[in-house]
Formats: sequence, C-alpha cells, structure tokens
Amino acid sequence: MTASQRADDLIGAYWQGAHLQNPNFLEEMRAVNPVLMSPTHGLTVLTGHAEITAALRHPDIRTIKFEGGEGFSQTASYAVMNPMMLFHDGGSHTRLRSLAQRAFTPRVLEESREFIAALTDDLLTEAAAASRSANGEDADGVDIVQAVAYPLPVTVIVRMLGLTGTDAERFRAWSESVADLLGGVNLPPERWGQIEADAQQMREYFRTLADDLRAEPQPGLLSALAAAEAEGGGGRLSSAELLANAVLLLVAGHETTSNLIAGSFHALAEHPEQRAWLAADPAGRAANATEELLRFLSPVRGSGRFTTAPLTLGDVTLPAGMHLSLSYASGNRDPRLYGQPQRLDLSRSNARTHLAFAGGPHYCLGATLARLESTTFLTRLMTRFPEYVVPEQAISHRPNFALQGLERLWVAF
Ligand code: HEM
Repeated sequence: MTASQRADDLIGAYWQGAHLQNPNFLEEMRAVNPVLMSPTHGLTVLTGHAEITAALRHPDIRTIKFEGGEGFSQTASYAVMNPMMLFHDGGSHTRLRSLAQRAFTPRVLEESREFIAALTDDLLTEAAAASRSANGEDADGVDIVQAVAYPLPVTVIVRMLGLTGTDAERFRAWSESVADLLGGVNLPPERWGQIEADAQQMREYFRTLADDLRAEPQPGLLSALAAAEAEGGGGRLSSAELLANAVLLLVAGHETTSNLIAGSFHALAEHPEQRAWLAADPAGRAANATEELLRFLSPVRGSGRFTTAPLTLGDVTLPAGMHLSLSYASGNRDPRLYGQPQRLDLSRSNARTHLAFAGGPHYCLGATLARLESTTFLTRLMTRFPEYVVPEQAISHRPNFALQGLERLWVAF
C-alpha cells in the first residue's frame, strides 16, 4: 500500500468516527504523520501538539463557517449557529468577542468565587444524601451528571448571563441540540426535527428576553449585549448576532465544564493513587490537577479550520482551501511533549501546555471561569468525600465529533 493510500484509508476511517470508538486510532494516525493529508477526502487531520499549535496561530488559517446544504440558511438551526463568534474571523470576530469578554473580568470572576464554592457544597451534600437509602445503608448511588456535573456550571453561567434558573431543564435540551449541531454522529431524521424545533424555541426565547432587558436592564451579560444591540444604528451587534452568541455563551458555558467534572469523578476513581495525592492537599493541588484533567480528558475533542493560501505544516505542504481537522485530544497525548501521555499524573509539571482550550484568536473565552469551577469542585470533593465509589457498569459515553463526555455516571458516596 502506498503512503497516500494509507492516508486515504486512515482519514476515511476518521470521517466515519473510528477515533470515537478507539482512542488508539489517533496514536496510529500521529505515528504515520502528525499532519496527515488526504486530497481524496479533501481533509488533513492534525494530531501533533506542535503542528496544531502552529495551525491555530497561522495567519493563513481561518475558522470554518457554519453552513449547510441548499435551503439550510432559512432554518432556525442556521440562525442560532451561523453568527456565533466561533465561526467568524477578523473584525467581526474581534467585535463579538470583545463584547462578550466584558462578562469575564477578574472582578466579576472574583465575585463569583464564593457563589461557586457554596453551590458546589450544596450540590455535593444533596448528591451524598440521595446516594444513601432511607435507613442509612449505601444505596446504588446517584447519577453524578444529573446531580452535580450538569447543575453546577449551568447555574453559574445562567447567573452570569442574568437568566432565570428555572429554565435549567429547557436549557439542557437546547444545549444537547446545539451539541448535535456542532458534532452529532449519525443523527436520525426525527432528531433533526427536534433540533430545529429547539432552535425555533431558542430564537423566540432570546428575542423576547432581549426586548425585556432593553426595556428593563438587569445585572448580567445579556443586558449589556442587549444594550449594545440597541445602541447600534449601523449595529455594533445585530439581533441575529445577539441570539447566536447568547446561545453560544449558555452552551459553551456549561456543556464542556459539565463533561470535565463528570470525567474527573471517573478518572480519579480509576486512578486511586492520584486521588490519594490530591486528597492529601486538595486546596494546594487542585489547580494543577485541573490542568492535567483537562489534558487527559479533552472535553472538546477537536475543531475545524481551513487554509486560505498554500502553506507548510510539519513536513507537509497544504494547498489553499484545504479543510483541517485539529484533534486537541490527540495533541494532548503527544509523546513528543508529554512523558507517558496515557497516564493521569496530577503533578505533571507541563500539564498547563494542553490544548483543551485551543489557542490563537479563538482561545476559549471562558477558560478562567472553567478553571475556577473545576478547582473549586475538586477542592470541595476531595476535602469532603475523598472515598466515593464508581461502580464499574454505571458509565455511559456520549458519541459526538466535537465534544466528549459522559451521559451518565453512577457514583456512591
Ligand atoms: C471556545 C474549550 C468552558 C466560552 C472554546 C474552544 C475550546 C473550548 C477548545 C475553541 C474552539 C475552537 O478551536 O474552534 C472549553 C473547555 C471548557 C470550556 C474544555 C471547560 C472545561 C467554557 C466556559 C465558557 C466558554 C465556562 C463561558 C461562557 C467559550 C466561547 C468560545 C469558546 C464563547 C468561543 C471563543 C471564540 O470563538 O473566540 N472553548 N471551553 N467556554 N469557549 Fe470554551
């Protein structure tokens, strides 16, 4: 088999989701070439840390647009997704990003610190109570995704945006629809109908909310965004942009963090010696543990870009217009940077170099908030319940090209 046939085969399998079933598949691809190009598929997959980092910062590489086939631009799904800052470059990206960035000043984050700690404690207390039966015996446990990993970040972002917490269940359904639009795998036709219905609801909800907030501003980022929309004339923020970026903040603000928290419960249970190390000094060690868990779990598996001019990455020259798939999950396990990359090592000295938050202009806007949530969560969990148990059979993974996480995880306290 020639090298180019091999590349075609591997990339064809990657398109089909081989790496979702088998993480070693990414190792195989990286070993062949960390920049693996298949002109047949019109796709190049980047699996090396250095190559992904270079691509994220390269001036001739842009983010992909959220587009679809004929007629798709008339759908609510398109309206909810296309104007997200994730899918824009240059001036419009900077404008959208700087408006949203107002929410994440050091002062706002500092003010959230106590709220996050109190909320974490409440959720852990409730989860521990629910995991025990009425007579005090240990019950089967509790689904930690439902009990802690989901409500913690969603409550925090809802408060920051200035939404009402009572909508949390609806936000969850919407969020799953956005996750499917970002990277759903083999979705059946009826699922597409549900996604479009959710997108229509999101459009109506945020439209009404923006009107209300302009009439009567409330604390929180959404009022600031609604005011920016009103100021415009020529428009600092169009109503279409307001909708999509409010949805982005809501979804990006919890989906990924929720996967990090549930994944951390699981990873620590699987690595008792690491858990003991963290439990020996939770407050002092939780920050580095967070970085290593981000590296190890990669809640965002990867993302897409394309080249606007011919350029060389590693030892491969790519033509203009080449679609790139950047595997952050693989970059995070690159043995050229991380010794024993498959090992969870909470004291790893270079853990913070991970690509879990990407890099370059689209570097995660919520990284500081996510770090604060995870560090607080790990500190409280390891201080209060270092001995929790994860029964082997009680795990279920969610298939998605963009996000990776657990749909359910049973934990007994
Ligand atoms: C972008 C990861 C939490 C808001 C990104 C990107 C990644 C990422 C990888 C870049 C995507 C790309 O390369 O195309 C994560 C992870 C999180 C997390 C792993 C938690 C563990 C948050 C939180 C927020 C947030 C808490 C808060 C609202 C955003 C936004 C963008 C973004 C708005 C788009 C930035 C832009 O396009 O300029 N995130 N994120 N994220 N994230 Fe996060």
